[in-house]
Formats: sequence, C-alpha cells, structure tokens
Amino acid sequence: MKTTVEPPNGGLMPPTGGPLAPQDLAGYEVVVCVSGGIAAYKVCEVVSRLVQRGAGVTVAMTRAARKFVGPTTFQALSGRRVLTTLWDHESGDVQHVAMTDAADLLVVAPATADLIGRIAAGLADDVVTTLVITASAPVLVAPAMNERMWANPIVQRNANSLREQKRFQFIGPGSGWMACRAVGPGRMTEPAEILEAATALLRSTKPRSVK
Ligand SMILES: Cc1cc2nc3c(=O)[nH]c(=O)nc-3n(C[C@H](O)[C@H](O)[C@H](O)COP(=O)(O)O)c2cc1C
Repeated sequence: MKTTVEPPNGGLMPPTGGPLAPQDLAGYEVVVCVSGGIAAYKVCEVVSRLVQRGAGVTVAMTRAARKFVGPTTFQALSGRRVLTTLWDHESGDVQHVAMTDAADLLVVAPATADLIGRIAAGLADDVVTTLVITASAPVLVAPAMNERMWANPIVQRNANSLREQKRFQFIGPGSGWMACRAVGPGRMTEPAEILEAATALLRSTKPRSVK
C-alpha cells in the first residue's frame, strides 16, 4: 500500500531532496525578525528549516529588510502572512501583543547596527522593535555588519547593553568575507548554526502552547 507523508504548514515546505526532517520543533512558535542587511537572504534558510522541523514561524520585517528580500518569499516559506507594519490590521486586533504572547523564541537575523541600537534604546518605532519590546520570550540575536561598524564603540555599547539582559543571547558575528568586500568580524553566523542555537533554546523548555 502506498503511504504519503504530509509536509507541515499545508505543503508549503520547499523540496529538500532528502527525507522529511524530524518534527522535533512541533508545537513551538518562533518569530523571526529580519532587518536590512545583505545577509537577509540567508535567513530564508533558517525559516525554511524551522518550518520543516514543525515549528510555527512568523516573520516580521523592517522597511529596510524589504529592500533585500521580498515578503512573498518569507510568506511562502513560513506559510503565514509576513508582518511588515503595525498598521495593517483590520479587525482592531492588536496583533503584536497576541503574537508575542504565543512566541517561544524570537530570532533577530540579520541584526543590523541600526536595529541593535533601536532595541537597546527601548524604541518601538516599527513592527520589529515593537514585537521585541513587547515579548517576554528569549531573543536570539545574530548581528551582521561591516567590520568597522561592528568595531564601533557605540555599536559595541548597544550590543553589550542587550547582552546584560538575560533575555538576549547573541550568536556571532563570525569573521570572514562580507558583501562589502571586506574580511573581518561582522559576518552573520551561518544559518545551520543559528538553527542549532534556536533549537537548543526552544527545546530547553516546553512550548508555551502546552504549558
Ligand atoms: C547594500 C546595503 C547593505 C547593507 N548591509 C548592512 C549590514 O549588513 N548591516 C548593517 O548593519 N547595515 C547594513 N546596511 C545599512 C542598513 O540597511 C541601514 O542602516 C538601515 O537603516 C537598517 O534599517 P533596519 O535596521 O530598520 O533594518 C546596508 C545598506 C545597504 C544599502
């Protein structure tokens, strides 16, 4: 008898060429916040892999992030509408509050110098910063920027002020070739490592949906 395996999220899973991934993240909710750096394209892989492993993934993008990757790509990969603004709700539903109540983890990748600064300043001036400031879930931050930006004492101060809070965990940046044709510290950690860190954080506790 022929058996079929239903992919998660209504069949929106992209082909992997391999067997169905283990559904070890089923029941977990992740909000992936994308800001405006070249590395945004690598975050498609993170979203896809989380979805393939059964996590519910909602993507939120800054205005600058949408210059690098279109929301349609993240919508197709996540199977969910992408949050791009605070102002598009029709029902009066305060979606960022509901979203953050459900979230087990936020992943901020790539995290630009600008976004790290805005979060560190406690700003809530777009959908991404509002989600981060409203949520109580842990936040995994993957910085990505030119090595001179990353070395800037103001950027370091902002990053350190987030690190001081237990809720924020940094991954990277690593060192290597960057799109600005420089080699140095500032390169976003590779998607596989971000996925591994996100998995470890998620699986350290039960999903909020079953608590
Ligand atoms: C081609 C290009 C690449 C950029 N790459 C980065 C980057 O990797 N990291 C970064 O911090 N800023 C980068 N920037 C600058 C940010 O896009 C800019 O600071 C923007 O205001 C960030 O907004 P956001 O943090 O709201 O997404 C880049 C800009 C351009 C035009």
